[in-house]
Amino acid sequence: MLESLDQLEAAAMQDLGGVAESAGLEAWRIAYLGAKGKLRAAMAGLKDVPRDQKPAAGARLNAVKSALETAFATRRAAIGTGEAAAGPRVDLTEPGLMESAGPGRRHILSRVREELVEVFARMGFGVAQGPELEDDEHNFVRLNIPAGHPAREPSENYYVRAAGGRDQGTGVQPLMLRSQTSTVQVRTMETRKPPIRVIAPGRVYRPDTVDATHHFMFHQIEGLAVDRGLSMADLSTTLFQFARAYFGDEARVRLRPSYFPFTEPSAEFDLWIALRPGDAPRWMELGGCGMVDPAVLTACGIDPEQWSGFAFGFGIDRLAMGKYRIPDIRLLLENDLRFLGAV
Ligand code: DAH
Repeated sequence: MLESLDQLEAAAMQDLGGVAESAGLEAWRIAYLGAKGKLRAAMAGLKDVPRDQKPAAGARLNAVKSALETAFATRRAAIGTGEAAAGPRVDLTEPGLMESAGPGRRHILSRVREELVEVFARMGFGVAQGPELEDDEHNFVRLNIPAGHPAREPSENYYVRAAGGRDQGTGVQPLMLRSQTSTVQVRTMETRKPPIRVIAPGRVYRPDTVDATHHFMFHQIEGLAVDRGLSMADLSTTLFQFARAYFGDEARVRLRPSYFPFTEPSAEFDLWIALRPGDAPRWMELGGCGMVDPAVLTACGIDPEQWSGFAFGFGIDRLAMGKYRIPDIRLLLENDLRFLGAV
């Protein structure tokens, strides 16, 4: 038995020396180490060995087995690196190159949208939606932005179907990618009776030149409240409470008189902030707001003698930048994993 094990080992080592590629190596493994291989056969022979020789034969058998396994592993490693150098191979057992290949996470804009929805939900606002592909009736006409208004210029909007069709009596409405979520104010007032308290987060599109604070596609959150006796005081209280809830008690915000066709009076809402460490803080414009113009209420079928409303529309990207000190809006839309993993 001992002698035949010596021979087995010698033959195996010699054969292995002649193996040059993985297919041959696998054949060698099957022949010697496989379930029906020579080593197994030798093990089966152990039962015929006289009792007093069994311990020695068993020990030798184990030694040969581990010698063959070690030799196999060494040969496999040598062939593996040789073949990898010879041509491109994919080793699926290799760990990935990306350090960040951990569990994924929700995009920062999705998280901010959810945070905003939650803060406003605590103040009694539900969520409303509208389409991103809009007609000019909802993007402009009912918001008191009549034909000929500069905001309707083709250079300021992404028209999908030619403007002017309806005005020329063809009955065809111009279609566009909405330039503001104020469209959802109109859609909500058309379909619901007051009292109304909704927010509408969503994408908007404008052919703006891309820079650190502008993008051709960005996100707004619209707010609308319609009730009896609402005033500018309700609007400012809501916004200041929102700012404290979202940015913390120390947040500095201000309302600044402004103009929008669909609100009267109108204001702009700013946040005092430094986005980069070391920068001096400055006022960052978050968006507009105001008391819903009675003409808009009327256009949407709500009697302005009975009801009044306030509205606001803020940039979600700007809110995210202010909350998480993100210095450049482009970071939010590029999907660079180094940024996404850090915020
Ligand atoms: N829609 C405006 C814009 O995109 C923002 C805005 C201003 C929304 C005043 C409002 C508002 O609801 O009342 O510039």
